[in-house]
Amino acid sequence: MTKISNRLFQRAQKLIPGGVNSPVRAFKSVGGNPVYMKKGSGAYLFDADGKKYLDFCGSWGPLILGHARKEVVDAVKKSAADGMSFGTCNPYEVEMAELLNDMVPYIEMVRMVNSGTEAVMTALRLARGYTGRNKILKFDGCYHGHTDCLLVSAGSGLLTGGISSSAGVAPSAVADILVAYYNDVGAVREIFKKHGKDIAAVIVEPVAGNMGLVKPEPGFLETLRALTKKSGSLLIFDEVITGFRLGPTTYGKICGITPDLTTLGKIVGGGMPIGAVGGKADIMRKLAPLGPVYQAGTLSGNPVALAVGITTLKILRKENPYPRLAKFAEKIVNAVNLTAKDAGIKAHAVCCGGMFTIFFTDKKPLRNLDEIKACDTAKFAKFFRMMLEKGIYLSPSQFEVDFVSSAHTDKDIGEFISAWRQCL
Ligand SMILES: Cc1ncc(COP(=O)(O)O)c(C=O)c1O
Repeated sequence: MTKISNRLFQRAQKLIPGGVNSPVRAFKSVGGNPVYMKKGSGAYLFDADGKKYLDFCGSWGPLILGHARKEVVDAVKKSAADGMSFGTCNPYEVEMAELLNDMVPYIEMVRMVNSGTEAVMTALRLARGYTGRNKILKFDGCYHGHTDCLLVSAGSGLLTGGISSSAGVAPSAVADILVAYYNDVGAVREIFKKHGKDIAAVIVEPVAGNMGLVKPEPGFLETLRALTKKSGSLLIFDEVITGFRLGPTTYGKICGITPDLTTLGKIVGGGMPIGAVGGKADIMRKLAPLGPVYQAGTLSGNPVALAVGITTLKILRKENPYPRLAKFAEKIVNAVNLTAKDAGIKAHAVCCGGMFTIFFTDKKPLRNLDEIKACDTAKFAKFFRMMLEKGIYLSPSQFEVDFVSSAHTDKDIGEFISAWRQCL
């Protein structure tokens, strides 16, 4: 069934480290070999051996409209036919900046980059340049891309600096990074008491998606806003996943908490490589060429990526698929919770809008990474492989979210639930 995929993987491993261009694609935490996809259409993926999958990974978030939607493909064709890159200013940049400002009014100015990682790198440099401070507070389990300084996990003491979670990161790169557990308001207060005047920024996923789905508890984001404001630090909402995922705007706009800077990616590029950092004009004006904080990019503001992103955002604004996405995710979550309990399986699901995670533990609510480590990852792996066998493609790790797209139908959700029941 996966003969061609397996052969491709063997060839790939000879020339590409681990056979992959991004580690989680290697299926290491779920076992087995990765599946090579050749085509995507609507809610479906098709592998190199011709097998069809109902896709709930959505390219890790960007494909909120599903695969190869006609208007999006037309935007690629039209813009690519006019030239792939100019290395000059282009009209799409102006249109994207105006569109983002319209959909998220507190993004007063924006700089386009090529990935979420780049957006975060730029936001941190900007925060440090603007405040003249060095320390950054991040939360264990929040992922912000692979920039050196944020590849850290919590040390044994919460008030110490983080510990690098990757080889090759100089200790000096993480020396100024403070790490706390998500939703731990008490620890954040302590950290601000001790380091407040040295903290350039707090960076957080306002709804966490990189340890599985973890929602902010009431008061968590509000406390971050209040403490950063009081100490003169910046609040950065990393909305690379949540931006335009939970509504035709950011989660900050939805929850009524205005960060100083926002990082975006994924949906903003509709499947093309993209990232963006935006926020208050007086902070954004510190970026080169207006200000002293340097940042640049050969392909930044790429016309094809922007044409796709603009088309995607306009469709989302016009069609407002969000209530439907939320309804579908709720349907999955309710079915999982009901049937897991009946079957005596220690699992539960949570959702936020069209994002959901099935956690293999009955402990709930899961508030942070430490608690999520209680999940039975071996059972998740088994579940993932059984679902794959049944033609349901999920994000291949317990510590990720799955996504419903506007291409999914009632029937697709029913198919997911029926496959889940069989797996039970
Ligand atoms: C919240 C968040 N920030 C940043 C990134 C990094 O984005 P990219 O993979 O485009 O570099 C990711 C990637 O998944 C993410 O989820």
